[in-house]
Amino acid sequence: MKKISVAIDGHSSCGKSTLAKQIAKHFNYIYLDTGAMYRAVTLFAINQNVINKDDFDKDALIEKLPEINIEFKADENGKVNTYLNNQNVEEAIRTMRVSSFVSPIATVKEVREKMVELQQKMGSKGGVVMDGRDIGTVVLPKAELKVFMTAKDEIRAQRRFDELKEKGIDDTFENVLQNLKERDYIDSTREESPLLKAEDALVLDNSELSRDEQLEILKSWVEERGKL
Ligand code: DC
Repeated sequence: MKKISVAIDGHSSCGKSTLAKQIAKHFNYIYLDTGAMYRAVTLFAINQNVINKDDFDKDALIEKLPEINIEFKADENGKVNTYLNNQNVEEAIRTMRVSSFVSPIATVKEVREKMVELQQKMGSKGGVVMDGRDIGTVVLPKAELKVFMTAKDEIRAQRRFDELKEKGIDDTFENVLQNLKERDYIDSTREESPLLKAEDALVLDNSELSRDEQLEILKSWVEERGKL
């Protein structure tokens, strides 16, 4: 079977990265979490005080962009972690503070240009699964398989809420739901490469699907495209 490129886009917290990781493992493909890269830029902005209480200095961030180096490295157990300037930030980029600033940061054209260039370099050889918001439309427009994932708002918020609770992060369901809706709104309406279903993407609404059912559907799609 031919090694293909798989582009997975969709709304926040609908399980894109879990599914993308599983499918990459199954086919022995490289998995790239592009959201982690925007999160790392956001953490950098927080650490550099480019972000104030509820706003950020866009020009200062653009000026500091050359100082940002993002890499993915696997640990001894094969778990891939995100590194920002040689520091493992895998945990630090998943906090609510980062989540609440990442969408505005991801609207900045210069940030997107830098991330897309890196992503295209990392995915240039095929045999790759990338998840994000603009993969099928901008990063890998020639991907053999494009998937647009979604699920009902309340279901996504409940999954995210349970995930945070499990990690010991205390927040209300209402806050989680609001953050998710805000991110979807900003991601879908921004000027620079908004979240859009690529014309040739297959839709996977997983509101009523188990993880195993989703995986089986996606496996069959990858196999089908790999034969073409
Ligand atoms: O997938 P995630 O929730 O970790 O992504 C975090 C944010 O990054 C999301 O709100 C939008 C942005 N993002 C983006 O603009 N383009 C991508 N390819 C991936 C993520």
